[in-house]
This record gives sequence, structure tokens and C-alpha cells, in this order.
Amino acid sequence: MTAPVRENLTGLDLRAEIDRLRKERNAVILAHYYQKPEIQDLADFVGDSLELSRKAADTDADVIAFCGVKFMAETAKILSPEKIVILPDMDAGCSLEDSCPPEQFARFRAQHPDHIALTYINCSAAVKALSDIIVTSSSAETIISQIPEDQPIIFGPDRHLGGYLNRKFGREMLLWPGVCIVHEAFSETELLKLKAQHPGAPVAAHPECPPHIVDHADYVGSTSGILQFAKTFPGDTLIVATEPHIIHQMELALPEKNFIGAPGADGNCNCNICPYMALNTMEKLYIALRDLQPRIEMDEELRLAARKSLDRMLEMASGTVGKGDLGRA
Ligand code: 13P
Ligand code: SF4
Repeated sequence: MTAPVRENLTGLDLRAEIDRLRKERNAVILAHYYQKPEIQDLADFVGDSLELSRKAADTDADVIAFCGVKFMAETAKILSPEKIVILPDMDAGCSLEDSCPPEQFARFRAQHPDHIALTYINCSAAVKALSDIIVTSSSAETIISQIPEDQPIIFGPDRHLGGYLNRKFGREMLLWPGVCIVHEAFSETELLKLKAQHPGAPVAAHPECPPHIVDHADYVGSTSGILQFAKTFPGDTLIVATEPHIIHQMELALPEKNFIGAPGADGNCNCNICPYMALNTMEKLYIALRDLQPRIEMDEELRLAARKSLDRMLEMASGTVGKGDLGRA
């Protein structure tokens, strides 16, 4: 995997150095909710995939330091090509992106010429370039409801999100067979045991979870949707079936409430930490801001092709984040 940080940074006040460099570089630090708490705490903005895309498109900073995974930083570069976009660890990939090689996706498309390709943002720039409309989990509902019912659709790469949308909207989208290794790891048996220990505690789940988890959820939605639910549910304990670093924001907002990560098969939630998101560290962020490397670079033809489907998402998702969320009452 990735090369370890070999420099000896002992004694350096990383937080102070990152603050100094962000000013010197006129950099904005964007972080996803699945980042380590220390990175969330220093970021200029923490958000879900759609919110982070919007921030990247709107910023007047010269440098975007993207604390998330590679497809997110690539999205920032596609939308803001004149900016320097750095990702602390270039190996921060995503199992959904890996599941969908562009050549195979192109063949799948070619086999279904009457279908449009509605594609989850968790994919490579090359797959975005082969797609008609991108969605995030917080914009998928708004966007799908604007597509005529008789329009056939292929949906990739997350079969669980696609299946959830099919069930909710009565559609028959053809699904690419990708999964998120993190959300796939929740255990139904362990979740039921946890629910029995906390009678009445609602479950909030991300739609990347398989149906045997989503079926037990009181709320299904994006990371920002789950956070909103956590801020408004009436009880005192919430079971959270998504990557557990989001619980940091819940604890900051509602320190008096109890947030429990849904377990994996071993009975705890360590297997549900995203190994790609976890590659970003304070040390690597400091080095990236100092050296302006590793940097996202992209062929202009590819960027322009990928931008079309992303622009369509931003247009169709317009309105506030959460309005088109997948939330279930
Ligand atoms: P959100 O858009 O809900 O933040 O999801 C991103 C992601 O990668 C979930 O695994
Ligand atoms: Fe990809 Fe899953 Fe990690 Fe999200 S949590 S970045 S979908 S591997």
C-alpha cells in the first residue's frame, strides 16, 4: 500500500504548522465526515460528497487540500481545474471505484444502448466521463424523480444504493455489482443483539448498507442526512450504521446523547472504519501543504468529458442539501 511518512516530524506542532501553511498557500481544507476527528476539527469545512463538491466548485482559495478519498479530490479538480488540488495520501481509494473498471463499464453501457447511465459519485473520472448523470446519496432521490419513469437506467457502481432506490421508487434500474467493503461489513445478527440491549434506540443507516441492515433502519440517508437525523431524533441513544468517524460530529453537537456504531461480525465496529479514509493523517496533510504534493493531475479531455455528468448532477440537485435526501420517515 502507501509509503509511510519517513520524515522525522517529532517535536513539530503539526496543528500550528498546518494553520501557518494554509494561510501562506491560501488553501482551503475540505474534509469528509469519515476523516479522523483531529482532521475534522481543523478543516475549514466538513461535509458529505455533494456539499464538498459544491464547496470545491465555489472556493476562491488557490489550493484545495482534500481530506477524503481520491474520487472526491478528482471531483474537486474536475470542477475547479485552475486550483491546485492535493490529497494527503494518493492511495486513498474506494472499493466502489475499484469495482468498476472503465473498460468494463463501457462494455456494459454498449450492451444497453437505450439506457442512460446514472452513476454514483464513488467512481473514477473515466467512469464519470462514460456517464450521463452523477448522483450522491444526498441528491439521488431528487435526481431520480426528475427522470421519466419509462426511461431505462443503468446504475453503478453501488448495487446496494441502486437496489435501495429501485425499491423506494419502484424502478428497475440495471445494477452494476459493486459494494462498499465498509458498509458490507455490518452484521445483522450483531445489530439485532445491540437493538435488544438498547430497546427503543433508533437505527440510522447509510444506503450503501445491504438490505438486511437497511431493513432494520428507522432512517436511511447520506452522511449529512444521518447527522441531521441525529440532531433531531427524540430519544437519548442512536445506533449509527455508517463509518463510525461521523459520530465525532454527533458528539460535538449533542454531548448529552449516546451514539453507538453498529457492529460488524466480531461484535465491535472496528471493521467498519474505512481503510482508505484512514490513510490521511496530520503528518501527511502537513507534508502535502508544505510540498503541494501529492497533487491531482488530469488530462483536459477526460476532465471536460467527466464534467458534463457532474454539472448535470449539480443542476438537478439544486436546492438545499437534505431536500432530496433518501430519508425515510
Ligand atoms: P456521503 O455522500 O453520504 O457522504 O457518502 C460518501 C461515502 O463514501 C459513503 O461511503
Ligand atoms: Fe468507498 Fe466505502 Fe470508504 Fe466510502 S466508506 S470511501 S464507499 S470504501
